[in-house]
Amino acid sequence: MKTLATYNIKGGVGKTAAAVNLAYLAARGGRRTLLWDLDPQGAASYLLRVRPRVKGGGKALVRGRKTLEEARKPTEFENLDLVPADFTYRNLDLALDATKRPTERIARLVDPLEDEYDVAILDCPPGISLVSENVVHATDLLLVPLIPTTLSVRTLEQLTEFVADLTHPPTLLPFFTMVDGRKRLHREITGELRAQRKDVAATVIPALALVEQMAVHRAPLPVFAPRSRVTRSYEALWEEVRRRAGLRARSAAARTR
Ligand SMILES: Nc1ncnc2c1ncn2[C@@H]1O[C@H](COP(=O)(O)OP(=O)(O)OP(=O)(O)O)[C@@H](O)[C@H]1O
Ligand SMILES: [Mg+2]
Repeated sequence: MKTLATYNIKGGVGKTAAAVNLAYLAARGGRRTLLWDLDPQGAASYLLRVRPRVKGGGKALVRGRKTLEEARKPTEFENLDLVPADFTYRNLDLALDATKRPTERIARLVDPLEDEYDVAILDCPPGISLVSENVVHATDLLLVPLIPTTLSVRTLEQLTEFVADLTHPPTLLPFFTMVDGRKRLHREITGELRAQRKDVAATVIPALALVEQMAVHRAPLPVFAPRSRVTRSYEALWEEVRRRAGLRARSAAARTR
């Protein structure tokens, strides 16, 4: 199993949109996929139509009174399960802080699912917190959506430094999102960062109002807009994510399973 996460200190940059679309695409490709919604806003749970009520709340998981296997729910899509978040997740930091190894709890919770899933994707709330620190510890590949602004490039540098100090740092995969090709600044910033860092994804997610429609349809983009430009971008991004995570191509994966 490969564990991925969408993370950025900044809010509203497309973390959840990416987590939901990529999880759907992983599942559509025949991979057993688990999406864990870690945000008390419960946006991923809402988009995938899973009721955001969690018995015992996030605390029960963190305290070890409940397993992820017990907390997960099927979605309407084959191969795709979801661990919903509810409003109790706002206190997840406090619950984590009260445990023995507060930065490793989430990794410990995900570990037992190793044989059950091919891919786990964690949708992280914004901010720097114990939750995000846990997520960084638990993941193989950290997907970092970036709106092309000078400030977001700086926060990426901070994240890169933070990750470099870890014993087992995850691989970073920054990708540009909400890009408007008509804006000169967007073109400049994407070009400059690409020149500086080899790890930036080749795929760019365009700014398109269709993405907001996910909340109206309560479905991943490929389901209600299969031929849209932005759907194709998420498909291309999934290919990059898949390769970077070391997951085999679809046909090969299907043959060996
Ligand atoms: N490429 C895009 N083009 C246009 N709108 C987008 C795009 N990606 C996301 N959005 C919209 O922007 C808003 C924020 O997106 P999203 O919820 O995915 O961000 P987030 O980083 O998860 O936010 P939060 O920090 O609150 O969890 C949503 O209304 C979403 O529909
Ligand atoms: Mg979100």
